[in-house]
Amino acid sequence: MATPKHSPTTLAKRSLRAVWHPCTQMKLHEDVPPLAIRSGDGAWLETETGARHLDAISSWWVNLFGHGHPHIRTAVHAQLDTLEHVMLAGFTHEPVVRLSERLGALTGLGHAHYGSDGASAVEVALKMSAHFWRNRGQTGKTRFVAIAGGYHGETLGALAVTDIPLFRDTYAALLRDCTMLPSPDWRQAPVGEDALAFARRQALLLEAHLAQHHASTAAIILEPLIQCAGGMAMHHAEYLRIARELCTLYGVHLICDEIAVGFGRTGTLFAHQQAGIRPDFLCLSKGLSGGFLPLAVTLTTDEVYQAFYHHDVKRGFLHSHSYTGNPLACAAANAVLDLFEASDVMAANAKLAARIDIAAENLRRHPRVRHWRRTGMVWAFDVAMDAADRRSPRAPIGMRIARAALARNVLLRPIGDTVYWMPPYCLDEEAVRTLVDGTLAALEEAVG
Ligand SMILES: Cc1ncc(COP(=O)(O)O)c(C=O)c1O
Repeated sequence: MATPKHSPTTLAKRSLRAVWHPCTQMKLHEDVPPLAIRSGDGAWLETETGARHLDAISSWWVNLFGHGHPHIRTAVHAQLDTLEHVMLAGFTHEPVVRLSERLGALTGLGHAHYGSDGASAVEVALKMSAHFWRNRGQTGKTRFVAIAGGYHGETLGALAVTDIPLFRDTYAALLRDCTMLPSPDWRQAPVGEDALAFARRQALLLEAHLAQHHASTAAIILEPLIQCAGGMAMHHAEYLRIARELCTLYGVHLICDEIAVGFGRTGTLFAHQQAGIRPDFLCLSKGLSGGFLPLAVTLTTDEVYQAFYHHDVKRGFLHSHSYTGNPLACAAANAVLDLFEASDVMAANAKLAARIDIAAENLRRHPRVRHWRRTGMVWAFDVAMDAADRRSPRAPIGMRIARAALARNVLLRPIGDTVYWMPPYCLDEEAVRTLVDGTLAALEEAVG
C-alpha cells in the first residue's frame, strides 16, 4: 500500500501563511501539510475532512485520560463560571491552594511554584537551586550537572542542561556551560551486562564527578527512568537511588524532571518513586492538567523554602510569569487528581500494557526491530538500518514511518530511528488493534 499524501485543506493553507509551527522546518510542509484537527474524543483526533486518527503520542505526551474527558471538561467549565484568572502575587484562590496541598501530600514536597510550560518549571528549579546556595552563603555553587541525551526544554536555561545537538548546537554560544555525564541508558551496556549493573557502573562516573566538583555544583538534573526526547532511552531505577545518595552525601540538589514521565506514565504515579527516593525539586507539566491547559509546577522541600524566608526582599524568589497558577488550569489539574483517586489507574494501565504487549508480539519480533523496550505505558524500539537505507535518497526512516502510519490512521512521531508509543490511558480493543497493526504495516512499508 503506497502512502497517500494528504493535500492541504484551506485551514492548513491559512495556517502555513500565518502560523509559525513549533519544532518545524516550515519548508518541509511543502511536501506534507499540517493536519487540521477539528475535534478530539478519547484516544482519537478527527480532521477537518472527517478522518479519525489514533493519538499514539498523546499530543506531545500531554494527554492522559483521552481528549475531551468529561470530568476534566466539567471542572474547567465550572471554574470558568466563577474565576478565570487572578494574578498569584498578592492573591490566591481555591483551585491553586487545593492543587498545591494535594501535590504536596502525594510527593512530600510541600511548596509549589507555578509556571505555564515545562521549560519554565525547569528554569525555576535551576534558579531556585543556585539561589538557595547563595542564600546559604555558598555563592560558588552555581554549576549544573546533566545527563547525556537528556532534554529539559528550549528556553536558554533549560537548553543549557539539554543534550540534544539538533536543538542545542545552533544556540551553543548563548548557553551556560554544563557538565554532561554519560547516560545510564541500558542500550549502551556492553553485551553481558544487565541494566542494573550498567546503572551502577554509570553512577560511579557521577560519584567521581561529585567527589571532585561538589563545591561548585548546585544541582544535578535528570529525567527519571526514561530520557524521552533523547529517544525513549530507558534506565534502571538504581541509578536514581544512587544519585540521591550521592547528592545527599555531597550537598548537591537532585532535580527530577518528570515533565514527560509524571502522572503514571512509567507505572507509578511518579517515576522517582520506583527508586524509593524524594528529590529536592520535582518539575511537572504536560499530564498535570490532563492535556487540557498549559500548567507547570516546581515542587520543593521545607529546607529549600526556609532558605528564602527572610525580611530581605532579595533573598526571596522573585521569579514570575503572568499566568502563574491560572485557576482554569488548576481546576483541570485537580480534576486529573480526582481521576487518579477515583480508580486504580496504575492497575488498569498495567492490564492494558500487558494486553498491548501480547498484541505487539509480531512487531517485537520483526527482523528490523532492535531494543524493544517498555516502561509502564511507554513503548519504544529502534529500526535497524541496512546499507540500502543509508544510501537511499528517500526521506529519513522515522519520517517515512510517520507518513505510512498516518495513512493507517495512527499518529506517530518517531525520534530519529526510534519509534515509540505513549498513548492516552483509554485505549479500547479497536484502538489497540489500530495502533499495533498500523505501526507494523507502516514499518514494513517504510523498510520495504
Ligand atoms: C523531560 C522534559 N522536560 C521539559 C520539557 C519541556 O516542556 P515544554 O515543552 O512544556 O516547555 C519536555 C518537553 O517535551 C520534556 O520532555
